Amino acid sequence: MEKLNLEEKFSLFTDLWSPKVIAEMNDYQFKLAKVDGSFVWHDHSDTDEVFIVINGTLHIEFEDRILSLDQGEMVVVPKGTRHRPFAEKECQIMLVEPRGVLNTGDGGHDKMESDDGRRAERTAGNDVWI
Ligand code: NI
Repeated sequence: MEKLNLEEKFSLFTDLWSPKVIAEMNDYQFKLAKVDGSFVWHDHSDTDEVFIVINGTLHIEFEDRILSLDQGEMVVVPKGTRHRPFAEKECQIMLVEPRGVLNTGDGGHDKMESDDGRRAERTAGNDVWI
């Protein structure tokens, strides 16, 4: 059992939209990601997803509104809810979700974007630890 330092962990990678696992609690993983620009529309049919903003501002577009999260703010996105995260400049976030969740969702409700290759391009390696 060792303490983890988020700032130190964030210094270990530079790639965007590519969540890194830093810890697990039971079947859940804590992941850090750096994001900038716009992600693809997606949903996760089997699980809720937690976004916690560590540094910067993260916007999440839903079908009916856009939520803006500043440092120290978080949201739980219910399963099956279509969302598109984006940031106007680099933002550092922590995600909490069950082991095995793909960052681009399962694509079940997102045929258009899953077919145009952008989703595949944004799908990050799963279970990458730092
Ligand atoms: Ni998501």
